[in-house]
Amino acid sequence: MKKITIAIDGFSSTGKSTVAKQLAKALNYVYVDSGAMYRAVTLYAMQHGIISEAYFNVDRLVTELDHVQIGFKYNATLGFAEVYLNGKNVENDIRTLEVSQHVSRVAEISEVRRMLVRQQQVMGKEKGVVMDGRDIGTVVFPDAELKFFMTASAETRAKRRYKELLERHEHVSYEDVLKNVMSRDLIDSTREDSPLIKAQDALEIDNSDMSLVAQFEKLYNMAQRVINQE
Ligand code: CDP
Ligand code: CDP
Repeated sequence: MKKITIAIDGFSSTGKSTVAKQLAKALNYVYVDSGAMYRAVTLYAMQHGIISEAYFNVDRLVTELDHVQIGFKYNATLGFAEVYLNGKNVENDIRTLEVSQHVSRVAEISEVRRMLVRQQQVMGKEKGVVMDGRDIGTVVFPDAELKFFMTASAETRAKRRYKELLERHEHVSYEDVLKNVMSRDLIDSTREDSPLIKAQDALEIDNSDMSLVAQFEKLYNMAQRVINQE
């Protein structure tokens, strides 16, 4: 059967990565978390004194991009590929609220985007890929056979992310999580280079009141329909 490319874009904590992983597993496709790559570059910048709350040396980050090696390695126990930064597994380190508070400023930089988009296009060139992010259906794979655009209310999304961070034993306040979700929404959708916008041919899904099961079924049925047409 012909393999297709599935692009899932949308706002933070709309369940993109959860449903992308489920789809990849069900279809025997590769899952790529493009946000993890922006988070890994951000972690590099934090670890090397390039970015903090009060400071961001954009020129230094751009000069040092050659030193930022990002890779994915499949973890059979988890059932998905974990992200590596310069040979070190950073799957957990990139998910902190601190990384979330810096990542959208890093993702605004065109040189960063160019480097990561190139890598993402290589990872998806054989098709049979489900990739989630902000610009997958618009910039990375504009010709993807199936595109979704996920939304939900900011409060619903912040509640989901807050619960996740607590489960990871990160003690943050709900207010800070909501503030971060809203500030990333704004930066991501208004930046000049590859803003978060719905691709014209993407199917919009508001999952504020949709369970994970219902959401998976909806996307899986759509995927089957498109695959059968190919
Ligand atoms: O999981 P969550 O939705 O919180 O975020 P993510 O997918 O890990 O992405 C983190 C950040 O990376 C986003 O807020 C964007 O600023 C940036 N990003 C992007 O610009 N383009 C992508 N394709 C993926 C992520
Ligand atoms: O990748 P993205 O940031 O869009 O979201 P995610 O990491 O897949 O989902 C964020 C959290 O919301 C996870 O804990 C999901 O289980 C939860 N979620 C939910 O409870 N119901 C949904 N319909 C979608 C996501």
